[in-house]
Amino acid sequence: MSAIRLLALSGSLRRPSYNTAVLTALAELAPASVRVELVGLGQLPLFNPDEEGLHPQVAALEAQMAAADGLLIASPEYAHGISGVLKNALDWLVGGYGFVDKPIALFNTSPRASHAQAALREVLTTMSGQIIDSACVTLPLLGTQADSAVICAQPDWAEALRRSLDDMVSVIERRKQIAASML
Ligand SMILES: Cc1cc2nc3c(=O)[nH]c(=O)nc-3n(C[C@H](O)[C@H](O)[C@H](O)COP(=O)(O)O)c2cc1C
Repeated sequence: MSAIRLLALSGSLRRPSYNTAVLTALAELAPASVRVELVGLGQLPLFNPDEEGLHPQVAALEAQMAAADGLLIASPEYAHGISGVLKNALDWLVGGYGFVDKPIALFNTSPRASHAQAALREVLTTMSGQIIDSACVTLPLLGTQADSAVICAQPDWAEALRRSLDDMVSVIERRKQIAASML
């Protein structure tokens, strides 16, 4: 079977971001049959419906989205909301078809950040994404200074992330089998 492609979106532009660190750890922990591609969202223009179809950075993101089998999303909470960086990227993707029905795993790096997670779920389900609850993971990283190497070296955290990837792979392979059986 061809490699499974998972697109990883971080809602933080901070260099030592916990959210980006979790996604980097997922890329490092992924089995050879799974490719985790981290996408930079910092260069996207601010969403403006008047400019749809005009920006190559947005077209590149849409193409990566369409080619992906699933999404890994991690976002900080700012003032009880989703980060503007992530919401901006999602707003650009609302009008496209690449997002619809995509399996999604959410990663929360701060157990107290419940408002942004709830808001993110609302946005993603409104966009017809399929959140895979068993693949969603909360890790208590806030204040730990952990980077991806530390996350991978912590057995419980690494195990939780491996299990998340396994669940995503199971869902995606089942979908591929169903799609193949309908040909
Ligand atoms: C301006 C600002 C507002 C924040 N608001 C919240 C908040 O409402 N709730 C919360 O749990 N954390 C809040 N935080 C903490 C961030 O979510 C936390 O620092 C997070 O680790 C940032 O993500 P990153 O490490 O991926 O950059 C806030 C941080 C900043 C800088």
